[in-house]
Amino acid sequence: MAKKPKHLRHQPRKSSSSQAFTVITLLLFFVLILIGLGIISLPSTSTNSSNPIDLTTTVRTSEERESYGDEEDGNGDRWVEIISWEPRAFLYHNFLTNEECEHLISLAKPSMEKSMVADVKTGRSKESRVRTSSGTFLRRGHDEIVQEIENRISDFTFIPVENGESLQVLHYEVGQKYEPHHDYFMDEFNVKRGGQRVATVLMYLSDVDEGGETVFPAAKGNISDVPWWNELSQCGKEGLSVLPKKRDALLFWSMKPDASLDPSSLHGGCPVIKGNKWSSTKWLHVHEYEN
Ligand SMILES: *[C@@H]1O[C@H](CO)[C@@H](O)[C@H](O)[C@H]1NC(C)=O
Repeated sequence: MAKKPKHLRHQPRKSSSSQAFTVITLLLFFVLILIGLGIISLPSTSTNSSNPIDLTTTVRTSEERESYGDEEDGNGDRWVEIISWEPRAFLYHNFLTNEECEHLISLAKPSMEKSMVADVKTGRSKESRVRTSSGTFLRRGHDEIVQEIENRISDFTFIPVENGESLQVLHYEVGQKYEPHHDYFMDEFNVKRGGQRVATVLMYLSDVDEGGETVFPAAKGNISDVPWWNELSQCGKEGLSVLPKKRDALLFWSMKPDASLDPSSLHGGCPVIKGNKWSSTKWLHVHEYEN
């Protein structure tokens, strides 16, 4: 200590300010370490920052579904059920009201035509034996009720309304089906408009007495684990299946979070065995879709 070099002692005033700077830096560093270790914490505006959002009141697993029945008004309790993570599929119970279901059917009824599929090579629409339903399209924003449904779809998916195609309404009679397929495009023609399809929202507008399940034959996991296994048709047991139930909406993603295509999103509509099935599909794109 005594042997401190002279030139240091005689340095101008700024040396003390640089020493102060070092001390402050070290102090700051020390405080940051304490914060990092959780010994001290920053003040927070939230009263329960350790548990910011509790989704368990709206999102439940299939095991918990039993306790949630339909409400008095006949439109039921709204809650989201996790169906699968591979593919990412979620069932929004009572997404639509009975009135909305009936409205969509009555809008579609006068213009139902035989359903088409996209040609793999040209991307153009063509008739096909793999899809035997009939259907029609309702323009985006067709009327106030359609707009309300489209806004709800946007709220549910976090995808802007502008990224959606026109709403398709489909009707399946006994024996009619849609063989398993992907909703994403494999041709260059279709992706030019709005980019790839990222997700699909499939709404059930009617109950089906038997059959008509939405089946994911490539889903990972134990497909017989679902509580409704015994209610499924033979076709429904060939994969992870969702029973068509009036007012419910099924959301599944054709793309993974890293934007690659998800082959496990393969899905089909099982043949209707008894009754008939009305459904409505909203395809959502990566970009704005010119309607
Ligand atoms: C699948 O789930 C069913 C019903 O929970 C169970 O009986 C069966 O043992 C499971 N299979 C496998 C391979 O885990």
